[in-house]
Amino acid sequence: MTGDHYFTAEPTTAAQPREVEFSVAGRDYTLTSAGGVFSAARLDPGTAVLLRKAELPAADAAGPMLDLGSGFGPITCVLASSAPGATVWAVDVNERARALTAANAARVGAADRVRVAAPDDVPADLAFTQLWSNPPIRIGKAELHELLRRWLPRLAPDGVAWLVVARHLGGDSLHRWLVEEQGWQVERHASQKGYRVLRVTR
Ligand SMILES: C[S@@+](CC[C@H](N)C(=O)[O-])C[C@H]1O[C@@H](n2cnc3c(N)ncnc32)[C@H](O)[C@@H]1O
Repeated sequence: MTGDHYFTAEPTTAAQPREVEFSVAGRDYTLTSAGGVFSAARLDPGTAVLLRKAELPAADAAGPMLDLGSGFGPITCVLASSAPGATVWAVDVNERARALTAANAARVGAADRVRVAAPDDVPADLAFTQLWSNPPIRIGKAELHELLRRWLPRLAPDGVAWLVVARHLGGDSLHRWLVEEQGWQVERHASQKGYRVLRVTR
């Protein structure tokens, strides 16, 4: 046993690669996941709600887009497949998650358009047309707020962010904090299986 969390920088748990299969918008995905990353054995139910309910980018959507906290890369792979002309930045603190995201981007034929990076390695001048995240609630409220205060302002002026948060993990209070304390426009776009899908704009 180890004390690893899914957001550990360098997981020491056995990798034990496994296949994760899911479908989004009529497209089938088979990706590789592994121990030591978030939702190692399946597509997370919150991520599934996000990918089902949010508005996936149109085929001609421009980037760059950001997958904040990519894990093994399911959101990155869906964005890159939905918008074949866009560059997608996949950011995660967990190096195993980054390696899996890069490998999965290659599996969906998007290796040339997916940039996998640690948070500090994202160029400061990029403005994202879309930001997608199933954010790491377990890091704690203060850290989560700091994360969103860091990345939401990286949206382009007309950019849109899509977030999914479980209601019992504070989805509604996060919604209020974004509006009342941070001044974002937030729409509860969908609610399913206890998850809130939030659409965030300036
Ligand atoms: C809830 S998981 C979602 C993973 C993946 N997007 C999915 O849907 O399966 C959140 C991810 O955020 C990552 N994370 C934690 N803290 C982070 C930070 N400060 N910056 C970027 N990513 C972070 C974690 O390592 C984890 O992979």
